[in-house]
Amino acid sequence: MNIAFFSTQKYEQPFFERSINKHPQIEICYFEQALNEQTALLAKGFDAVCVFVNDTVIALVIEHLAEHGINTILLRCAGFNNVDLVAAKAHNIKVLRVPAYSPEAVAEHCVALMLTLSRKTHKAYNRVREDNFDLNGLLGFNLHGKTVGIIGCGKIGLALCNILNGFGAHVLVCDPYATLGNYTITDLDSLLTQSDIISLHCPLNEQTHHLINDDAFNKMKPGVMLINTSRGALLNSKACINALKTKKLGYLGLDVYEQESELFFKNHSDEINQDDIFSRLVSFKNVLITGHQGFFTQEALSEIANTTIQNAIEINEQRPLTNEVL
Ligand code: NAI
Repeated sequence: MNIAFFSTQKYEQPFFERSINKHPQIEICYFEQALNEQTALLAKGFDAVCVFVNDTVIALVIEHLAEHGINTILLRCAGFNNVDLVAAKAHNIKVLRVPAYSPEAVAEHCVALMLTLSRKTHKAYNRVREDNFDLNGLLGFNLHGKTVGIIGCGKIGLALCNILNGFGAHVLVCDPYATLGNYTITDLDSLLTQSDIISLHCPLNEQTHHLINDDAFNKMKPGVMLINTSRGALLNSKACINALKTKKLGYLGLDVYEQESELFFKNHSDEINQDDIFSRLVSFKNVLITGHQGFFTQEALSEIANTTIQNAIEINEQRPLTNEVL
């Protein structure tokens, strides 16, 4: 089975090479380019494509893939909002994903964002390097005793609940589909009004697109902390900027951004950033943005590679598919 691997990053290749070592029937050809209308031709002659979060697998791309004989899309991530599933089904292309590689990796990254924003360790690091030991401006707050609202309590949300429980935080959960014994389940409005910290862990879909908008900010406590490590479009970025300007939003931690496909996973340091909304967000002192690295641990990369190759083997050997999206 020949796999065309798009959006390759150097750091993931060794994990995939280790994983296919035991499976000589699988061959991977690595392309640095993202999969899109222009690059779909590269997939000609392969059996499958392997894609990541910012590859654009829209209907037109799928049409091209089908013409080139592709029968499988292997997502090396959990989310599948970037794939047109209807088009894939219409062309009889299987879509498989890695549903859970390390929920703890993302949950721990959320806590890193929360603690950095609250305790300002990023500022302290720079100050101490300049022999500046002044504590003014570094005043933080305890997580202990705070109310933390988790929107979406699947694998990552639950891992975060468990960590926050250890901090002694009061955890509120809003998830219309979850049945949890240990944590208080509430409706969205109550969570928005009661929480000191809000963290988003639901998938991006029609119902959750711009879930956090002006109306949601109006319901929140003044000075609330908001963390988004799920998908950028769960937040309306302009509403965030307004809420930051009025100080309604006291802290914002992002690992994802609505227009991230133009920016993330590449070095743009020699270019002028043309995204005014992103530039404005970065300019706030109480905003911390990381470039979609919540998943980025050794354990997670290893699991992503192993599960993706396992998915390919199931296709190749026509076995029942464990992780089929369609
Ligand atoms: P999951 O599928 O285990 O959990 C999602 C939960 O959201 C489910 O319990 C579902 O019932 C709930 N949900 C659905 N609609 C909702 C709504 N309208 N309101 C509240 N809850 C709702 O997914 P998992 O693995 O926990 O991942 C969550 C998200 O994290 C993914 O969709 C993905 O976008 C993102 N992610 C980000 C990563 C990163 O590196 N930053 C890495 C992996 C995932």
